[in-house]
Amino acid sequence: MTTLDTAASATTGGPALAQERRLVTAIPGPRSQELLDRKAAAVAAGVGHTAPIAAVAAGGGVVVDADGNSLIDLGSGIAVTSVGNAHPKVVEAVQRQAASFTHTCFMVSPYEGYVAVAEALNRLTPGDFPKKSALFNSGAEAVENAVKIARKATGRQAVVAFDHAYHGRTNLTMALTAKSMPYKSGFGPFASEVYRAPMSYPYRDGLTGPEAAARALSVIEKQVGADNLAAVIIEPIQGEGGFIVPAEGFLPAISEWCTANGVVLIADEVQSGFARTGAMFASEHFGLVPDLVTTAKGIAGGLPLAAVTGRAEIMDAAHVGGLGGTYGGNPIACAAALASIDAFETEGFVERAAELGEIMLGRMRALQAEDPRVGDVRGLGAMVAIELVDPATQAPAPALAGAVAKRCIAEGVVVLTCGTYGNVLRFLPPLSIGDDLLHEGLDVVAAALAAEVAA
Ligand SMILES: Cc1ncc(COP(=O)(O)O)c(C=O)c1O
Repeated sequence: MTTLDTAASATTGGPALAQERRLVTAIPGPRSQELLDRKAAAVAAGVGHTAPIAAVAAGGGVVVDADGNSLIDLGSGIAVTSVGNAHPKVVEAVQRQAASFTHTCFMVSPYEGYVAVAEALNRLTPGDFPKKSALFNSGAEAVENAVKIARKATGRQAVVAFDHAYHGRTNLTMALTAKSMPYKSGFGPFASEVYRAPMSYPYRDGLTGPEAAARALSVIEKQVGADNLAAVIIEPIQGEGGFIVPAEGFLPAISEWCTANGVVLIADEVQSGFARTGAMFASEHFGLVPDLVTTAKGIAGGLPLAAVTGRAEIMDAAHVGGLGGTYGGNPIACAAALASIDAFETEGFVERAAELGEIMLGRMRALQAEDPRVGDVRGLGAMVAIELVDPATQAPAPALAGAVAKRCIAEGVVVLTCGTYGNVLRFLPPLSIGDDLLHEGLDVVAAALAAEVAA
């Protein structure tokens, strides 16, 4: 047994974990440092980390490290553990399924869990029309497959993605992703027939939704042409790009144009889906009914699962054998997804996300009123961010955002940054976090911001 095993066996995760911020060493403590040294020696340098800790347990609203520090979790492992880490229903379902069978490959010997997840997704995603789904392992894989399906269904090749978009790290999804460093730099050449349109970014472009849509559609029509365009892919609320909420009317206008021109509209809900925004899917806030929806992250309580769901006639366009993968829709991941979906539907997580959003937006707006470095406060439900800027010019302040996030982690609160300009602090706690812990986490954020001199 290593020291890390000993620490892990001393505590289990899930909601029973003490819900407190507790620092018993500096971060990283000696046991975490031991793992980080091993990581540096054994793991490729390109795989970075935000919090310098060795996690041994997590649940409710905390992550516990190998030294016994308990950190408030405002990141959910990047929007994944929405039902909470080690949710009892997920743990039970995973254990039961693992003891029954771990893999047959759905393309070889199908099993019920996969079909039941597809049925649930067809029921839950926006749109009152016949739908079908296909399951994969990661968000990027879902996006790749959505594009494949749209191309096959339309017989066209071009795909439009937006400024500030993030769709993954595989070759096609790197091409769809906007930001060069760190996601694309040096990794080209990228997939062809990908075009970029300007996004609605109310804080920075000052445009109404219809104005921003007209700008985007003009670029699409002039630089691509509807006849060549298979799909438009968009995050209803952009994630890595900075939690950008488009202006009202932007998404419906893009959607109407796609429908009128036979272009498949793909909503990438990998980060915004599954209760995160106070609706089961963020599209619902905008009245958006996409042709295809990509999901992952929150779908399975932490197990790797992803999906493409959409109009049955589009989903069925790909020939037999054209979609799939050895592990796609793994039975354990499907069991976890069914348990998570049950929790989302019966434990009030959608409503809870909205409540958490009220708390976070209220606190951050109060902070903004006192501190002009908080240029913008935005988000929906438990997907909230602040954009830090130079108060005189509104120029992005990435150094300040990085310093605040680092200080928060040192003080026992896991906070993530994002944004094309690296100047956004994003808050996406597990929906299982308690009010007190959330307030304490936000107190630490406010104190960290106050402690940093203007960047
Ligand atoms: C909107 C969006 N799409 C796709 C992805 C890629 O998902 P994955 O990391 O599971 O490949 C992400 C990941 O952050 C995302 O936020």
